[in-house]
Amino acid sequence: MNKSLFLSIAAMLSLNASAEKVELSTPHNTLVLNIWKGGEPKFLYYGQKLSASDLASLPEPTNANWSHLEIYPAYGASHTQSETAFAMKHADGNLSSQLVVEDYQKSAVTEKAPNGATRTGERLTITLKDPLYPNIVHLYYQTYSDVDMIECWTDITNKEKATVTLTQFYSSCMPIRRQNVYAHHFHGSWASEAQLTCEKLNNGILEIKNKDGLRNAMSDRSEVMFSLDGKGRENEGDVIGTALVYSGNYRITVDTDDSEFHYYFAGINPDNSEYHLKKGETFTTPHVAYTFSSEGLSGASRNFHKWGRKYHLRHADRERDILLNSWEGVYFDINHEGMEQMMHDIASMGGELFVMDDGWFGEKYRRLTDNAALGDWVVDKKKLPEGIERLVADAKKNGVKFGIWIEPEMANTTSELYEKHPDWIIKAPGREPILGRGGTQVVLDLCNPKVQDYVFSIVDNLLTKYPEIAYIKWDANAPVMNHGSQYLPAADQSHLNIEYHKGLISVCERIRAKYPDVVIQDCASGGGRATYGLLPYFDEFWVSDNTDALQRIYMQWGTSYVFPAIAMASHISAVPNHALQRTTSLKLRCDVAMSGRLGMEIQPKHMTEEEKAFCRQAITNYKMIRPVVQFGDLYRLHSPYEGDNLASLMYVSEAKDKAVFYWYKLETFKDEHFPCIKMAGLNPDKMYTVKELNRIDNNPLPIEGKSFSGKYLMANGLEMPYSHDVDNNKKNDWSSRVIYLEAR
Ligand code: DGJ
Repeated sequence: MNKSLFLSIAAMLSLNASAEKVELSTPHNTLVLNIWKGGEPKFLYYGQKLSASDLASLPEPTNANWSHLEIYPAYGASHTQSETAFAMKHADGNLSSQLVVEDYQKSAVTEKAPNGATRTGERLTITLKDPLYPNIVHLYYQTYSDVDMIECWTDITNKEKATVTLTQFYSSCMPIRRQNVYAHHFHGSWASEAQLTCEKLNNGILEIKNKDGLRNAMSDRSEVMFSLDGKGRENEGDVIGTALVYSGNYRITVDTDDSEFHYYFAGINPDNSEYHLKKGETFTTPHVAYTFSSEGLSGASRNFHKWGRKYHLRHADRERDILLNSWEGVYFDINHEGMEQMMHDIASMGGELFVMDDGWFGEKYRRLTDNAALGDWVVDKKKLPEGIERLVADAKKNGVKFGIWIEPEMANTTSELYEKHPDWIIKAPGREPILGRGGTQVVLDLCNPKVQDYVFSIVDNLLTKYPEIAYIKWDANAPVMNHGSQYLPAADQSHLNIEYHKGLISVCERIRAKYPDVVIQDCASGGGRATYGLLPYFDEFWVSDNTDALQRIYMQWGTSYVFPAIAMASHISAVPNHALQRTTSLKLRCDVAMSGRLGMEIQPKHMTEEEKAFCRQAITNYKMIRPVVQFGDLYRLHSPYEGDNLASLMYVSEAKDKAVFYWYKLETFKDEHFPCIKMAGLNPDKMYTVKELNRIDNNPLPIEGKSFSGKYLMANGLEMPYSHDVDNNKKNDWSSRVIYLEAR
């Protein structure tokens, strides 16, 4: 918005003497809004927790340069030129809206969090109304009493006499003061998820969006970290972290105009998704979660991890099992003998769970490759004549739990399901369906309640019949390829993308109500659904189909910005890597996988005894550090994105008595020079004893068994040799270290 227009609006809405500073606080953050009845609510402050006296003195935005600070600007009356959060076509065709405060109140809240835990905090409800229309918009801000996170969302109720059309319905808007702000966000594609992108906010618009329809974390992600004082540093500097808690199409817009602020907007992507709200109906937007940290990007990540583990991830208080997944080991070549051999092998290496991936189902149409049988969730008796009964018995015999793969939202046109219910798929009216994977894959229309029942029944049937199934890998390997619901009426075709995700969440809720304990992995061609919109129903997600240890360092780095290690499935796989053909050392593969939720994705029968012994040792080591990795605090120390061939991170237990330090060299050159990485998060007064894990060197490091104070480790770090002390025939390009620190 230009300044002259602002001045006229400022005069129009001139700051009201009865404006109230409304404050919301978490343990270390404060948000302050400026609210007065009859005016538009405004932003005043978000950052470090304010003392009562600073809050009382906090200046009101009287400077014209501060420009427009409305937290939910509506299009058409006072706002036309600037970005807005909300726009609707009224029943009478009027495109203009104005949302002013009718009322507001704060109340204490105790309620169930999305993952079933109980959360407490405060909720501010601001009731907004258009002076010309009876519609009501509630704008909510909710705090957590024990984590630094504030969630914001809205609901919109149509009180007009007929249907209205929502054309823009962001969840939230947050002004961010201009001051050399950098946005850190995540771009990706299949097998290359969560690549960190960092850019300075300049004049104009930064738009981050995803319109996959289903896998809305595959190409671009809806989480953004804003470093407020220059390019983000990991352990110092002010950062606002944001995450849209939604699994569907989204749009994040950061608008930088001629004012003193950047304006962050986040919500459902309205492209081809205008929403018709019938008389009396209410539309609720997804939540946006905000956190502030003055401990840099890693500090904001730790806030997300605490919030995620406590309230937005299933069972995050339980250690995750170490598993072998069959996919890269056998692909579709499933049979009893092969599955039992894999169960035996993972058990012999100390693993705790075996997961049978794709390829086990189909009767009339068999799942021999990816072009048939999705939708027909019956055992392929030619591959598995003794059924799942034998698989669970074999797992029991081998002392491991059993898990199974499904892709319940999909069908192949070569399936009995499609033959019976061609009307259940997503398809543009009057057109042939566009076909995906295998040339035959289609997406089921979760807008349709019958399809919702069917998808629920896939999980329900499996878990009722085989209560021994301890783990489900829920995959989704297609986008919305053509726009059309055969269930929704012609007038509401634009609801497809929104109703699909409502249907999906409703199925997930039914599953969790009946099966609260089963472990479910969220997979979508890899990390295509790594989003807090879905994680409350899932225990973890598959980071990527790319298991190459080197690229995983980058992907896991980006993923860790908002997701905790306990949720990041990270597997040791074969070389040459199936996605990249790169050959890395087994040590590097173990060292990288052990920084997330460790598993294996390999055919163990092709491993040598020496390799198996190394993995057995790595698994034993992981069991020792598992609580630190899965429940500890993450400190990213040296970014692989710095481009100087080094990456390092560490986890520290809550009591700061244990820590695990990871050091990865990314490339090898002669005459190479690396900084000595200073550690972080330790207790300066504690003495920590060093133990190298997964050691391959002929001789222990000179620091092995020595003790150092936390103060020393954080001020100096420990020198890591740049290569391994191994026999000539074992030398290779790769060098990495995992150092366990235990306080005496
Ligand atoms: C995509 C997943 O990401 C893989 O791990 C595997 O489960 C395949 N689908 C199976 O088709």
